[in-house]
Amino acid sequence: MKGLILSGGKGTRLYPITFNRAKQLVPVANKPVLFRVIEAIKEAGIDDIGIVIGDTGSEIRQAVDNGKRWGVKITYIPQDAPLGLAHAVKISQEFLGDDRFVMFLGDNVIQGGISNLIRQFSSSDWNSQVVLTEVDQPQHYGVAELDDQGRIRRLVEKPRNPPSNLALVGIYMFDHHIFEAVHAIKPSWRGELEITDAIQWLVENNYQVHPYVHRGWWIDTGKPIDMLEANNRVLAELEHRVDGYVDRDSKVDHLVTIERGAEIINSVIRGPAIIGEDVRIVNSYVGPFTSIYHHTLIEDSEIEHSIVLDHSRIVGIPSRIEDSIIGRDVEVTYSPIKPKAYKMTLGDHSRVGLL
Ligand code: G1P
Repeated sequence: MKGLILSGGKGTRLYPITFNRAKQLVPVANKPVLFRVIEAIKEAGIDDIGIVIGDTGSEIRQAVDNGKRWGVKITYIPQDAPLGLAHAVKISQEFLGDDRFVMFLGDNVIQGGISNLIRQFSSSDWNSQVVLTEVDQPQHYGVAELDDQGRIRRLVEKPRNPPSNLALVGIYMFDHHIFEAVHAIKPSWRGELEITDAIQWLVENNYQVHPYVHRGWWIDTGKPIDMLEANNRVLAELEHRVDGYVDRDSKVDHLVTIERGAEIINSVIRGPAIIGEDVRIVNSYVGPFTSIYHHTLIEDSEIEHSIVLDHSRIVGIPSRIEDSIIGRDVEVTYSPIKPKAYKMTLGDHSRVGLL
């Protein structure tokens, strides 16, 4: 089997974090979501992986390179414009050939990996397997309607009146018949070739599409709130380890990971949390569900339930920072200089919540 990861898109809902970087490279629990996807595919025994890239392609190429680090072979497939998931399949035909394959959206995080699913599919004669899960707002997803025997009756993309609460998760398995489908369908109202329509075409043409209902968590990291939620989920399931330095005046519980070169000085860290490489936490409190990425400094401050990216500085902030995503090379500092006021240099599309 082969793997196909979709890693295009502009990530506008995550601006400004993704203003100048690929959304799939934003770290969740200090590891880019895309790397988690590659690991999940590799874990399922697949080492020939195509990555469909768009505007942010050069950054993705730089970060993933040839895949050697994971023991996989990566082929990049440029997509000129984000014309839909089925369009991505279409342009990947040469890479995929006649092989069965798994397609994974590069910004999705799912509990428990996909090894079992892949195994099930590769030893079956199904033409496709789709992953479904119950969601609260099915109108935002592709939605499946099943019959009494649990077979797929119908699939619809973002229906106004959803026929069920079973959403299509961003993981799909196909054999080569999907190419007939992606050539047969027409663009949807949003101008995209929808994978949901292609699978519906398979169903209508009597191909076997097997639905698998996933019971664990699944997060499509489209919005900041999803990013924080994914961070919570992954942190809660990490196996924690301390590779950095913790001084005697600090308190760090067993749900905290401290990466290489990090230093914790006179601080309290309550897990689940992760402190990245060469980070310094000084006279500070880092609370549950927080990920601090590499080379960042937190001094005389308190932070909880947040993600901070690399090379940032949070120094001397008198009130606790919560529910925040702080980008790369950002400075949040206390300013004693009069007048007593918030003094901000915020980039385009920044979001600040003040008391
Ligand atoms: C896409 C699919 C949709 C699926 C969703 C999962 O939606 O079209 O069927 O439920 O991914 O993340 P999009 O992210 O393009 O809106």
